[in-house]
Amino acid sequence: MGSEQPGSSRPLQRMEDLVALCARRGFVFPSSEIYGGINGFWDYGPLGVELKNNLKAAWWQAVVRERDDVEGIDSSIICHPRTWEASGHVEHFSDPMVDCRACKRRFRADQLDDAGPCPAREGSSEHDWTEPRRFNLMLQTRIGASEDASAIAYLRAETCQPIFNDFRRVREVARQQIPFGIAQIGKAFRNEINPRNFTFRSREFEQAELEFFCRDSERGRWFDHWLDERLRFHREIGLGAGHLRTRPHAPEELAHYSKRAVDIEFRFPFGWQEIEGIHDRGDFDLSRHSEFSGKDLAVTDPETKERYLPVVIETSVGVDRTCLALLCHAYEEEALPGGEARTLLRLHPRLAPIKVAVLPLSKKLAEPARRLAGELRRRWNVFYDEAGNIGRRYRRQDEAGTPFCVTVDFDSEADGKATVRERDSMQQDRVPLEAVAAYLADRLGPGG
Ligand code: GAP
Repeated sequence: MGSEQPGSSRPLQRMEDLVALCARRGFVFPSSEIYGGINGFWDYGPLGVELKNNLKAAWWQAVVRERDDVEGIDSSIICHPRTWEASGHVEHFSDPMVDCRACKRRFRADQLDDAGPCPAREGSSEHDWTEPRRFNLMLQTRIGASEDASAIAYLRAETCQPIFNDFRRVREVARQQIPFGIAQIGKAFRNEINPRNFTFRSREFEQAELEFFCRDSERGRWFDHWLDERLRFHREIGLGAGHLRTRPHAPEELAHYSKRAVDIEFRFPFGWQEIEGIHDRGDFDLSRHSEFSGKDLAVTDPETKERYLPVVIETSVGVDRTCLALLCHAYEEEALPGGEARTLLRLHPRLAPIKVAVLPLSKKLAEPARRLAGELRRRWNVFYDEAGNIGRRYRRQDEAGTPFCVTVDFDSEADGKATVRERDSMQQDRVPLEAVAAYLADRLGPGG
C-alpha cells in the first residue's frame, strides 16, 4: 500500500493475507500445529474465540431469546445410530470421489479443477483417474468395548437431527403449540474429501440451526418470514451492501428431504458461496423418526382434535463460515500520511473480540490506567497494554478490530481526562475519566 494516496483503502483481495493475519493475531490457526496441522481442523485463539462467541450470542439472542415461539437445546454430539438411518444419512450422505492411481490422491469428482497436475506421472501431468465412487461423509466412532458392528456410532453430521429426536419432549416440557421452533448451536462433523478455503470447508465445524414446526397450510408464510429474519440478521452484524445475495435452489438441486430451499450467499474473495440455507423440509424428518423409533410424533390440533405431523422450516447457518465472512468483509488495508499503511478489521462493535484497549502512554501512568481498565472490565472485554510505542499499540488494536483505544497520558493527572481513539476514523476525543464508560456505552450500543 506504501505508494497510495493517504486515506485510500483496499479490501481483502488474497485469502493468504487474511490467513496470515488470523495466525499472527491469534484468531484462527491450524489445529495441532506443532505436529504439522491436521487437514480440515482449526483452532480458534484468544481473539477468535471471542469473535465466535459474540456471533453465537447474537444468533441466540435473535433466534431464541427475543421470541416466545422458539426453545433452545444443547444435545449430545453422538446420537442413537438409528437416527442417521432415519435421516437418510447412512444411505445418501455421500459425495462422488475419484482416486488418482498414480499419485494416490483422492478428489471430489465434481471438483477436479482443483486437483492441479499429477506430481507422479513422468512425461504427462494428467492424473490417472478411477471411476467415481460414493464416499459417505459421516465420521464413525465406536462406543463401548464391543468389536462388532453394534458398537458403531457417528459424530453428528448436522445439529438438526437431535432436535427432531427431542421434538416431543421439548414441546411437552415447554408447553408449546404449533407453530414453534427448536434451536441449537453446536459442533457437526463431516469427512469432507477436500477441505479448503481456510475454515470455509472443514471437517469439524459449528452450525446454528433452527427447526420451526408449523401447519402445512402455513409453510410458505413461515419460509418467507425466516428468510427475511435471517437476511436482516446478516445485515445487522455488518455483512452488508453488495456482499449478500439469495439463491433459490433449482428443483434438481434440492436435497432428498427438501421441498424448497434458498441459500444465503456471501461474496468471498474466492467467489459467491453459501453461508446459510433456508429449507422447507416438509414432514420428512418427523415421519421418518416416527417410523424408525416406533414413537408417534404427530400432534393434536387443539380445536379440531385432528392428529397431524407438522412440517418443518429450517434455517441452518455455519458459525465458522459466518466468522470467515465477517473477517473477509472487515479486512481493510489503508494508506496513511507519510507513506505508512495500516491493516484494520472494521468489525461491528458487537462482534469485535475486544471492545476497548486501555493504553497508558508510559508505565508511570499504570495506576490510573489500571483503575480505568478495571472499571471498564465489569462491562466489556478489555485489553490492557502498557508496553511499547503508542503508534504500534494502536496498529495492533486496529488489526484485532478493537473499536476504541483509551490512552491515559501525562495531562490526565492535571485535567482528569483520557484520549479516546475510534478505530475506523482514528478520530480522538478528550473525555473525563469518570465519563469514559458512559461515552463507550453510548457508542458501542446495546449488546456492544
Ligand atoms: N441441516 C441442514 C444442513 O446441515 P447444509 O447446507 O449441509 O445443511 C448448513 O449445512 C450450513 O452449515 C452451510 O450453509 C454452511 O454454512 C455450514 N457447513 C456445511 N458444511 C460445512 C463444512 N464442511 N465446513 C464448514 N461449514 C459447513
